[in-house]
Amino acid sequence: MSVIGASGTGKSYYTGSLLEDRAPNFDISVHFDLEDEEGGLSVEGNALYGTLIVDRERFESIDWPKCLFNHRQVRVVPDALDDEEIQELYGRISAAAMALCKDLEIDDAPESALVSCDEAHQVLDKNKLDSRVNRMQTGGRKHGVETIHLTQRPALMPLTILSQSDRRVYFHVSEQRDIKKINKASVFDANRLKDLKAREAIVENKHSGEFEKIDTDNCGRDRPHFSGDDGLLDDALPV
Ligand SMILES: Nc1ncnc2c1ncn2[C@@H]1O[C@H](COP(=O)(O)OP(=O)(O)OP(=O)(O)O)[C@@H](O)[C@H]1O
Ligand SMILES: [Mg+2]
Repeated sequence: MSVIGASGTGKSYYTGSLLEDRAPNFDISVHFDLEDEEGGLSVEGNALYGTLIVDRERFESIDWPKCLFNHRQVRVVPDALDDEEIQELYGRISAAAMALCKDLEIDDAPESALVSCDEAHQVLDKNKLDSRVNRMQTGGRKHGVETIHLTQRPALMPLTILSQSDRRVYFHVSEQRDIKKINKASVFDANRLKDLKAREAIVENKHSGEFEKIDTDNCGRDRPHFSGDDGLLDDALPV
């Protein structure tokens, strides 16, 4: 699935609640948390994921199939990696999820994996989608690999990620370039998204063509969400 919407509309909060509900159903789940927002999902004693901070040294050394096989629920937080390394890291994780569920012939091979990625427009190259991510996105599902990509800038996303999502959850979007991009991927008229209030969303089912409005205000999370985007300057301004 894809979760799309302007900054501060509630994508990460909602997705966290979905992960709390669904990630335990997968043999393996990886959350790629570029901004380290979901520390609340990794609090000791009640952790949905273990946290794995990936600095340069770990970037070089981690064997991802082995790591995911051993640890199973991992929240990956890149630390001081450059854009190219971040893209490469996500490519390796995508390949590992596919390898474990499809290619590797090992005892007790996992049968399902959930790979989620927040701030996906900063992790993926709009003009050149990593082949490993492409393979996971287009062919993962029949091997038990499912994905969630979240973004506030669909205009900066590779079209394949949006168009190859079975479900899309749209929060408020008002930028014309983003609306245009959404309209390329779906039958849904994205101009409607301008009218959504914060925490309201529209869920689209690509195959059936159905869509339905949801209110995520009461979606509920057992674990806290830490977001640094509430804006210290905003209170000083009249509107
Ligand atoms: N359903 C909700 N209940 C309670 N608080 C919420 C809810 N949805 C969002 N929030 C709060 O609103 C703020 C913005 O939400 P969130 O971080 O999910 O936005 P976002 O769409 O992911 O934004 P960005 O694109 O900037 O990451 C956060 O402080 C979050 O905790
Ligand atoms: Mg967010």
